[in-house]
Amino acid sequence: MFEQLLPAAKDPILSQTLACQQDKRAHKLDLGIGVYRNNQGVTPVLSTVKIAEQRLLATQDSKAYVGLAGCERFNHAMMDFLLADNSSKSRAVAVQTPGASGALRLLADVIKLANPDTTVWLSDLSYANHAPIMKTAGLSVAYFPYFDHDTKAVNESAMLATLSQLGKNDVVLLHACCHNPTGADMSMEAWHSVTDMAIQQGFLPFIDIAYQGFGEGMDQDAAGLRYLAERVPSYLMASSCSKNFGLYRERTGLAVIAAPTLSQSECVKSRILECARSTYTMPPDHGAAIVRTILEDAELKNQWLAEVDQMRGRIQGVRKALVQSLQISTNSHHFDFIADHKGMFSVLGIDPAQVDRLRTEFAIYLVDGGRMNVAGMQTQDVEYFAQSLAQVMI
Ligand SMILES: Cc1ncc(COP(=O)(O)O)c(C=O)c1O
Repeated sequence: MFEQLLPAAKDPILSQTLACQQDKRAHKLDLGIGVYRNNQGVTPVLSTVKIAEQRLLATQDSKAYVGLAGCERFNHAMMDFLLADNSSKSRAVAVQTPGASGALRLLADVIKLANPDTTVWLSDLSYANHAPIMKTAGLSVAYFPYFDHDTKAVNESAMLATLSQLGKNDVVLLHACCHNPTGADMSMEAWHSVTDMAIQQGFLPFIDIAYQGFGEGMDQDAAGLRYLAERVPSYLMASSCSKNFGLYRERTGLAVIAAPTLSQSECVKSRILECARSTYTMPPDHGAAIVRTILEDAELKNQWLAEVDQMRGRIQGVRKALVQSLQISTNSHHFDFIADHKGMFSVLGIDPAQVDRLRTEFAIYLVDGGRMNVAGMQTQDVEYFAQSLAQVMI
């Protein structure tokens, strides 16, 4: 059966983590995989998550199946949280999924069912798993210009010029905030333009929100998507609880579908549940039960918001410290853009040989392409990192 089967290609991100784990050098820095770490280098269980878990332990009296769409209370709490008072809520429906990855895949499956000729447009660059997920679902993938490697910001005019050519067979996948891998986010003006184009040209916006609260704040990070959701006839959204609830391994996410009418959204949902049924059937419950417990309790929710504020504050502090240290070590303002980037990542604009030198000479692990997980860095390592980066820039 398996004689002809070739091994899978290495995962570009997970393979770096593995290599770093095997590295024996004490001063090694794992800045590859996208996990938040506190200043002690730990990815903590949030205290509000612990409280929710204790409540669940005390009150949960059954482990019976929940349902194909997961926990509807979680789905509603998440929709309320993501969309606030957005008018699209009245026609939107949601499905609990195993992480945003599960949501991306189910939504891709339903796009394929609805229109097999769809092309999904990704930003150039985009999250490393976007293209594999879309392609595995049988969809064509194309790229619109996004990251300007010179300015380290979004090239909005080039992006909008490409999007202006798209139509009814196209889906445009947009990062709501804290763009992965670049850290460069779209302006509100660009959200307005994309919204107008989606309405006029008929392409379907597909929003991925994996880092809400890590950029500028919970509401600020959702402002673009809420503007769009209010106005376009249809949109899809994949949301992750991995980062802002710190629930990475609990695989907790949400797929949102908004069609022009609630009954059309329900129809799409039924096809999504059919896809879920024939793959994993039901999502894991624990993470969703934690999130629901937090979001449904005003006091606990406020405590959680404060924990996210703290994580965001730490990331912003590391960004500032990095810029200062790199100004000194490179005697230039070359890396000042790091302070303008949002969320966990920045693309540094260094070449593969420099990424390799950081790894081999300095035990610093970045993702190939020069993506750095700023949220994985401790303040005491900033100087070593800055000096090492300066060395490989010579
Ligand atoms: C943009 C983006 N979307 C989706 C995901 C997947 O998140 P999850 O852990 O919820 O599957 C990630 C994870 O890194 C991401 O960066």
